This record gives sequence, structure tokens and C-alpha cells, in this order.
Amino acid sequence: MDHFQRHEGRLFCEEVDLAELATHYGTPLYVYSRATITRHIRVLKEGLADLPHHICYAIKCNSNLAILDLINQLDCGFDAVSLGELRKAQQINAPMHTTILSGVGKRDDEIRGALEAGVMYIGVESEEELSRVAEIAEALKVQAPVAVRVNPDVDAKTHPYISTGMRDNKFGVPFERAESLYQQASRNEHLKMTGVTCHIGSQITQLAPFVDAAKRMSHLAQRLQAGGIPLHYVGMGGGRGIPYHHGEGAEAPPPSPRDYGAALKEILGPLNLTAVFEPGRVLVGNAGILLTKIVRTKQGATGKFVIVDAGMNDLIRPALYQAHHDIETLLPPGDATEIVDVVGPVCESADTFAKQRALPLTQAGDLLGLRSVGAYGMVMASSYNGRPRPAEVLCDGDAHQLIRQRDDLEDLWRGEFPLHALAKPA
Ligand code: LLP
Repeated sequence: MDHFQRHEGRLFCEEVDLAELATHYGTPLYVYSRATITRHIRVLKEGLADLPHHICYAIKCNSNLAILDLINQLDCGFDAVSLGELRKAQQINAPMHTTILSGVGKRDDEIRGALEAGVMYIGVESEEELSRVAEIAEALKVQAPVAVRVNPDVDAKTHPYISTGMRDNKFGVPFERAESLYQQASRNEHLKMTGVTCHIGSQITQLAPFVDAAKRMSHLAQRLQAGGIPLHYVGMGGGRGIPYHHGEGAEAPPPSPRDYGAALKEILGPLNLTAVFEPGRVLVGNAGILLTKIVRTKQGATGKFVIVDAGMNDLIRPALYQAHHDIETLLPPGDATEIVDVVGPVCESADTFAKQRALPLTQAGDLLGLRSVGAYGMVMASSYNGRPRPAEVLCDGDAHQLIRQRDDLEDLWRGEFPLHALAKPA
């Protein structure tokens, strides 16, 4: 459930009229609903209530400081995958004892930063990385809390680019090598083998892959515990999918937090460990909309194009994953529809938000909203084609706040130097 609805035909985010917001702040504009994020966190916590757990929000999916601040206030920890994300969490004073560091290629400064900050654990992805963590911990004279990310080899049945838990993926330690790695690591005084973790992919809409992964993790955790390794945590990663189709043609809903929680409790409950979840998309995906204005329409050789002022640089998901985002008019839609391609202004054919989509009749100057862009939207934006990145706004009831200013043109060349400014070699 989200807080986007129509009043007298006009689209609102909570009690804010989106067409007015677009006029006020300009387009393209990312807009988020505070109530939607709050609700999604509450419902997830309710679903997991019977299982001791920590929620570590995956910063990568939306790292705006205001969003992090809100999520911190709702008592979640954080999952950072870089020093940059760790520092953003520290910027909003997130407690580090519920923050973890993940990532397949951590640099020394990132490992060091996490240890100095005092994170809950570092999710280690290889034997080689584990040795490096131990060396850095030794140099810092600390014991590094570690959870090895294992690759449970389950098919998440999602887009191949966002599937991470199969044998041939670059992620994690092969399942069959995990036990001996723990035995070896437990003899290293600079390592504290505190958990075992996994992440099988993203936008997973079925329960079965999570159940399969949980069973494998439970089996491994039991063997490690029986082998004398005192674990505290079992990590299940993120990955729960969201509905991207609203209204007619909606796909079957992903498993509810209650069903997800009940299934995992049955499998993980007997371990007496704290389960760690790293949700991203499921908390913020449906809390965001991208507002855009139609620059012009154009009759092509085979159909009509609606050219909008947002492009693949602002929202890359359709171009990269062939992802579907519902597109709605912000003003009351008429009854008549037409089939169009909705495209951006970027010089690439991939800069297409929708192909052969039925939309209400529109013309230049009309405002549209692309739904479900709260996760992996703005964070993946770039300034490709010399396009300043969009602004972001958070709505709360009838109030709205600018939470990131639009890049200005100077941002496009900030930090760059024209040739004549270079010093001549001596
Ligand atoms: N934990 C780890 C280790 C991850 O790699 C990810 C996402 C998450 C948690 C959060 O997953 P979520 O709950 O959001 O599914 N850009 C793609 C998605 C990439 C996901 C990367 N990893 C997209 O737009 O669909």
C-alpha cells in the first residue's frame, strides 16, 4: 500500500497536489512519501515480530540523507557497501552497532573505516578478503567482527543482472568452502566470527527462493555452532520484490511480510540467533514518483512518441533492466487513450521509459509521473548528456520539503579543469 491517490482526478502524494509540486520545484523531480516509508517499515517489523532480528536498510537503494534520517528514526540499522555510504550513515548519527559493511570488493580504507567506526559486522566475501580484514584489524589492534557471505546457490528467479545467489555469480564464498573457512578463521585472534550471511538477489517476488536459502543457511549455522563457533547472527540479505503495476494488469502480489516472517521464523527460529535483514526496495520503492513534463510529441514512421524532460540519466531502470514503471498523468486523465512510446531526450534508443503503452491523450506541457521509483532511481542518476541531476522532495501530510537541490549547470563541470589551466611540465 502506498500514499499516492487521486482527488477529483488530480494525483496526490499524501495530501500534496503533485502538479502543483512540479510547478513549484520544476521537473524532472523525485518525490517521496514519508507515510509510505513509515508504513512499510512498520509492516515489515510486524511480520518479523516473532523472530529476534535487526533491520539494516540497504543504503544503496536510496541514500538521500533525509531518507536515511527518517529510517534511522524508525529504529533501523544500515547496510553500507562503501566508505561513502558508511560516512552518509554517520552523517545522520546512525548507531554503528546496528550498521554492517557489505560489498564484493572492499578497499583497505573501507575495511579500516568500518572497523574504526565499530560496525556490527563486516560481510566478508572471500578467503582473500578475510585475510586482509585480519591484517587490518591487527594493525588497528582490534578484533574484527565478521559474517562470511556465503553463496547458497539458489535461483532467485529474477532478472539476471540482479540475481546474486547462484554458483557462477561473483558474490560470496562457495557454500561448500564455508565450514573450513570458519574453522580456520576461528583460530585467528584478530577475527570474531560472529555471523553467517547471504543475499540471493533483488526484486524477488516468490517465497520459495527465500525459503530455500534460509534452509541452507540454517543447516550451515547449525554445523558451525556444533563445531564450536559461537555465532550471533544469521543474515538473509534483502531482495523482497514490490508490485510495479498498479491498477489494471497488476501482477500477483509478492509474499506479504507476514508470510515471509512466518516462513523464516519456522526455519531460523530454532537457531536462537538474531536474524539480520537488509531490505532496500521493499521499504522505499513504492514511496517514490518521478515527475516529468512533456517537451513535445512527435509522429514517427510507425507510431507516436511522447518526449519527456526526464531521461535515462535520471532513471536508468527501464534502459538497464527493461523495467516497467507505471506512467500516469498528474492532472485528471480523459477517457480517450492512445498507444505511444514514452521517451527521454538522451541520444540513445535505450532512453525509452515505455514502449507501446496506452496513455491518456497528452500534449506538450502536460505533466506525467513515473511510479515506484523510490529505490534505485535517484541513486543511479548521472549527468550523462550534460543533464543536471534532478531535485528530490519529501512529502509529509500536506507539507513538503526539498531534500536535495537540483544540480545546477556549474555542477556539470565542477572539479574539471580546462587544458589551459594545466601547469606545463618543467
Ligand atoms: N543486500 C545486498 C548485499 C545487496 O546487494 C542488495 C542489493 C540488498 C541487500 C538490497 O536489495 P533489495 O532489498 O533492494 O532488493 N539496481 C537494481 C537492483 C540492484 C540490487 C543490488 N543489491 C534495480 O534497480 O533493480
